[in-house]
Amino acid sequence: MLKVEGLTKTFGTLTAVDNVSFEVPTGQMLGIIGRSGAGKSTLLRMINRLTEPTAGRIDYDGRDVAALKGRALRLWRRECAMIFQQFNLVPRLDVLTNVLMGRLSYQPTARSLLKLFTPEERALAVITLERVEMTSAVLQRADQLSGGQQQRVAIARALVQEPRILLADEPIASLDPRSAARVMDILRSINRDDGITVICNLHTIDTARAYCDRIIGMRTGRVIFDDHPKVLDHERIREIYVADGSDDEIDEYITSTTLPGIPPIDLRSTSGGSNRIPT
Ligand SMILES: Nc1ncnc2c1ncn2[C@@H]1O[C@H](COP(=O)(O)OP(=O)(O)O)[C@@H](O)[C@H]1O
Ligand SMILES: [Mg+2]
Repeated sequence: MLKVEGLTKTFGTLTAVDNVSFEVPTGQMLGIIGRSGAGKSTLLRMINRLTEPTAGRIDYDGRDVAALKGRALRLWRRECAMIFQQFNLVPRLDVLTNVLMGRLSYQPTARSLLKLFTPEERALAVITLERVEMTSAVLQRADQLSGGQQQRVAIARALVQEPRILLADEPIASLDPRSAARVMDILRSINRDDGITVICNLHTIDTARAYCDRIIGMRTGRVIFDDHPKVLDHERIREIYVADGSDDEIDEYITSTTLPGIPPIDLRSTSGGSNRIPT
């Protein structure tokens, strides 16, 4: 169980994340939605300690994550893998080496400087690449791959860390719908089949609805929605995305886009909407 309590981050006078509390049971697939600037990335980055919280607690199975230092912090980052909108692969390195980078935290320093990996680690990398359907490209340079392929390699790199939590910051925001669906299907299989907790910032509401067990909606640093996707109706979407907006304004933000196989939902119906929110 991951528990976040009163988590806050200020940048000067700006409160990017404002007194946020929630608990994520192990094995949940949680989607976080909200407008650009709502604090989604800052929240994820605090959870794996890429960003230092200003205040609040992060607790994982009794461990005080916000207080970890040195080796304990490195172990936490290994357990809590992260993928990004821009993939963050090393462009000039081949796919296999990029994936093996996910094993660096398991290496003694000398070996990691030389990028020496054991046969078992190489085998793990290859098996993991098979899982994301990227074995045909093992020796290709990362910068020769499409966005969708790069994200699948980034997922493989995260998986070889053997994490317990996977944090995904807008993992499909740069992808076409078909590649996006493929990446989301992989994330869901990691969640369902491996029992890894997945926390995913998303800018498409229909994706969050289709894939997540639970949705948190953030606005100006605060959590203003935290419930089952079914509960996310038009009114709630308006609260999350539009300040004092009319329906016309919400329509400007919400234009329908769907993943293959997911039918669009009419936003004007009371059951909620299918929509893409610019980030
Ligand atoms: N390193 C930083 N320095 C100053 N302000 C930042 C920094 N990172 C984020 N912010 C600000 O914090 C707010 C939340 O940003 P972010 O977490 O990136 O939101 P989101 O991911 O929801 O778009 C924004 O107003 C952003 O400009
Ligand atoms: Mg962001």
